[in-house]
Amino acid sequence: MKKDRNAIILAHYYQDDAIQDCADFIGDSLELSRRAASTEADVIVFCGVHFMAETAKILNPGKTVLLPDLEAGCSLADACPAEAFADFRRRHPDHIVVSYINCSAAVKAQSDLICTSSNAVHLVRQLPADRPILFAPDQNLGRWVARESGRELTLWPGSCIVHETFSEQALLQLRLEHPEAEVIAHPECQQHLLDLADFIGSTSKLLQRTETSAAPSFIVLTEPGILHQMRRRSPGKTLYEVPGADGCSCNACPYMRLNTLEKLWQCLHTMAPALELDEQIRQRALVPIERMLAMSA
Ligand code: 13P
Ligand code: SF4
Repeated sequence: MKKDRNAIILAHYYQDDAIQDCADFIGDSLELSRRAASTEADVIVFCGVHFMAETAKILNPGKTVLLPDLEAGCSLADACPAEAFADFRRRHPDHIVVSYINCSAAVKAQSDLICTSSNAVHLVRQLPADRPILFAPDQNLGRWVARESGRELTLWPGSCIVHETFSEQALLQLRLEHPEAEVIAHPECQQHLLDLADFIGSTSKLLQRTETSAAPSFIVLTEPGILHQMRRRSPGKTLYEVPGADGCSCNACPYMRLNTLEKLWQCLHTMAPALELDEQIRQRALVPIERMLAMSA
């Protein structure tokens, strides 16, 4: 079916192992956007969440972009409604508006620059030093970017429900039991956890770290879907997941996990659900995304 449709399957690392195994390309948000921008396929099947598929559609208005489950949202995008965001901007008229890619097209359309967790520090460092900056919607990522770039950022108070769930007590216990392990964390984690990390980076950077670091084992503070590729690429290394605060498994992203292998098959079969976008919003949202791609090249 994939061949018949001239389709490409893009998957984020937080997808089920079986979906990752079907994908033509697996990556972090930035790599997936780049791949979506350069593909020659007629159909993009985006195994990720809504804002990721929407970004692919913004970049490819003439292509069909399918998302196996249209309900696969993101708590960060939900935390930043477009109208409230417009008010926030109005209250800070002289600021450069930098938005994390985890937001809706309507918020992107109101932004000067989009960033992902892998390029945010690099992009913020390039902004004129005499201009104040608004950063939305992830306050945890924003605090980390501010520390790393030395810039003051006015933050929108959003957060990721998955990365806010990790238990500090469980992390400290794992560190005591495995003193040889390196603690690696996604910057969406809260600051008190990032303070305990040896390495911080996007999903792709965490994956690379498990390959390049000499450490024999890693305590991984991000969604456990990433462990599939870590195990593949570094079979000799030991990986420890950090549970949620009540020992729950809410460290699995409930939105990402709405996509299943059956829904992937079904959407290719029926060519639905497909992303649709208001053309005016799409054109305005394209500007800060293209700026990001150019500035992070
Ligand atoms: P990456 O940019 O690292 O892929 O992160 C996306 C995301 O949603 C993390 O929760
Ligand atoms: Fe959104 Fe968090 Fe899920 Fe990433 S892990 S898609 S930020 S809810």
